[in-house]
Amino acid sequence: MKSQDAAVWSAIEAERVRQEAQLELIASENHASREVIAAMGTVLTNKYAEGYPGRRYYGGCEHVDTIEDLARARAKALFGCTHANVQPHSGTQANIAALMALLQPRDTILAMSLDHGGHLSHGHPKNFSGLFYAIHSYGVEKGTERIDMDRVREKALLVRPKLLLAGASAYSRTLDFPAFAAIAQETGAKLLVDMAHIAGLVAAKVHPTPVGHADIVTLTTHKTLRGPRGGMVLCGADTIKQVNSTVFPGGQGGPLMHVIAAKAVALREAATPEFAVYQRRVVENAKALAETLTARGLRIVSGGTDNHLMLVDVGASGLSGKQAEDVLHAVDLTCNKNLIPYDQRPPMEASGIRLGTAAVTTRGLGVGEVRRMGEWIAEVLSHPGDEAVARRVRSNVAEMTRAFPIYGDAARVVHA
Ligand SMILES: Cc1ncc(COP(=O)(O)O)c(C=O)c1O
Repeated sequence: MKSQDAAVWSAIEAERVRQEAQLELIASENHASREVIAAMGTVLTNKYAEGYPGRRYYGGCEHVDTIEDLARARAKALFGCTHANVQPHSGTQANIAALMALLQPRDTILAMSLDHGGHLSHGHPKNFSGLFYAIHSYGVEKGTERIDMDRVREKALLVRPKLLLAGASAYSRTLDFPAFAAIAQETGAKLLVDMAHIAGLVAAKVHPTPVGHADIVTLTTHKTLRGPRGGMVLCGADTIKQVNSTVFPGGQGGPLMHVIAAKAVALREAATPEFAVYQRRVVENAKALAETLTARGLRIVSGGTDNHLMLVDVGASGLSGKQAEDVLHAVDLTCNKNLIPYDQRPPMEASGIRLGTAAVTTRGLGVGEVRRMGEWIAEVLSHPGDEAVARRVRSNVAEMTRAFPIYGDAARVVHA
């Protein structure tokens, strides 16, 4: 395709080059397949399809019905649930729908504290969740930096929430869904599990599934699941009617059918044996990275990781999380600053960085490469401002990114 819009396409090409040239350690990102990306750039973006397959508010929906039916069937088969809604535009939209389906405004929620790894849509005061519901929180213990289910139970018995919410953006340990379900049952609460980060691990059975334990499960499709940017809701026959009406018209208008097609493509990929191998490697790589950083004197929150991510306390190196993010970015290693539990610094500075291995594993890095990368991270963090170290690491990163291309030159954008 010859484009008329050099301004936009040159920026898209620059972003493609950036992704190829940097090692992506942001734990919520991944590199979707070319087929997933291709599905989003199709004529499906032209179509209005408010409603659900077989019951739309617009004509001409026969083909988008096929696509949405495929996506729903694949989601149900992959996650072993009876019902799925694939329309949420994002993880936050999926959580809006789930909370509206299970609660009345001003009801009480017990969710993981944002400062300890929870998500904005689990009760941030400026988010809809914090504005419309009464939020109480549980966190990790000071000594172990892990969730103690006995403490969650005590808090639930005290607060008597209408809804218990499990799931996090920055927690590196296995979540005990049967224990969350037992607490919800004992205290008369509904259980919502937001498995946004670990959806790919759950699909590959590398992390235990919340399906069968939670009243509703929400997820994003673009993190470890490696699909397009979007959300999804999984539930049973008892809640699907509510969920379908809180997704549309409750929180959204017309579905993004091009994105739903890409979700269907990603869900097929996620059901392959190769995807299960990939997820096992993501976890192996995360363990190898945590071990390497620990051996180099960096403290990993909770002492390690069971999943695809870890929080690194960079305080001992004399840097804030923001400074660590910046010095790593300068050598083409991309990550984000992150609060660590009981952090004394404000969120925009923070004392930690969050690292994830989903994206680098997609481009082919194995344990050996990840260990080398861990050495570079430790070196840069222990020599901030040392231009000779930065130059050497940047050149090592460049060599590695060339050896492990993501899409290759075929994905180059040519504009007029
Ligand atoms: C646990 C969790 N839930 C929900 C979301 C929200 O996803 P989105 O950015 O698609 O709204 C995120 C995103 O990082 C997340 O980590």
